[in-house]
Amino acid sequence: MRILITGGAGFIGSHLADRVLSEGHTVVVVDNLITGSLDNIRHLMGRPDFTFIQQDISEPYTLEGELQAILHFASPASPIDYLKLPIETLRVGAMGTYHTLEIARQKGARLLLASTSEVYGDPLVHPQPEGYYGNVSSTGPRSCYDEAKRYAEAMVMAFQRTHGIDTRIVRIFNTFGERMRLEDGRVVPNFVAQAIRQEPLTVYGDGEQTRSFCYVSDLVEGVLRLLMLPRSGESPNPTNIGNPNEMTILQFAHVVNAITDNPAGIVFKNQDRIQDDPQTRRPDISRARQLLNWEPQVSLHEGLERTIRYFEKRIKV
Ligand SMILES: NC(=O)c1ccc[n+]([C@@H]2O[C@H](COP(=O)([O-])OP(=O)(O)OC[C@H]3O[C@@H](n4cnc5c(N)ncnc54)[C@H](O)[C@@H]3O)[C@@H](O)[C@H]2O)c1
Repeated sequence: MRILITGGAGFIGSHLADRVLSEGHTVVVVDNLITGSLDNIRHLMGRPDFTFIQQDISEPYTLEGELQAILHFASPASPIDYLKLPIETLRVGAMGTYHTLEIARQKGARLLLASTSEVYGDPLVHPQPEGYYGNVSSTGPRSCYDEAKRYAEAMVMAFQRTHGIDTRIVRIFNTFGERMRLEDGRVVPNFVAQAIRQEPLTVYGDGEQTRSFCYVSDLVEGVLRLLMLPRSGESPNPTNIGNPNEMTILQFAHVVNAITDNPAGIVFKNQDRIQDDPQTRRPDISRARQLLNWEPQVSLHEGLERTIRYFEKRIKV
């Protein structure tokens, strides 16, 4: 297959590129590098089966040649990024998704949209099944991301219903691993960087908010199983992919300090809790289990060790 990956120079997109290339497919990455980096794909440059195009997909774009599938992953994704780039985030969720769906329609390609657990907002149902409609503020600071993704989902479904194109929507829960940016503000790089520097880990709020962390290779496996699922009568949209192993941020901080032998402990910053930061997060993955026969395989401990090794090379202690 020839596969387009929008946002392929980002954290998850670059892992997807590695994986599909290793399976013999050809990859075109389209990315404007707004939050991604050429460092993530430099090792692929020059390969005959790999093409990089620097392009803002919120502007109309075209692609030469045949195309069988699109992994649509372009979007700022960490709170620090989308709070700094609210209009770009809304534009890529809306116009970027529209332009990419147009390419899928023209080429007759299957399209998989990277959506997010943030479409559930601060959930009133726990864990979150796909049938839950969410509890989202349409005006709060995080609305630029949450509503962009909700709009993108609606646009994907409209193209499927109107033009009959084959689409997949994956709702991704917190994912971590190598190639996250140290300064992207998400809890894994924050804690790991502080732990490597032997500094106290900063917990916002009381640390009782929960998250469940999925290692990136598990996510990539789930995404590709969903992409490759044969088209059948029953639509797989949307499908949650994430790790249901839930823990409080405080418990997570203790795990990171234990793995890194960090004696510096934890500091609390109550006043800095981000507005609308969800209190709980845990995927119901029954659909992924049943449809894709998918389960996370990598333990938190193992995934963290790999991630810590990656960050250790990048941090001057
Ligand atoms: N990492 C997670 O835990 C997580 C969770 C839920 C959903 N997701 C989704 O997965 C996708 C990838 O997330 P990530 O963590 O790899 O983030 P990332 O910031 O590392 O990657 C996003 C990529 O998209 C590119 N991009 C953004 N706007 C663009 C535009 N207008 N035109 C072209 N390229 C553009 C960026 O330059 C970057 O390379 C996002 O759509 C995100 O919403 C990620």
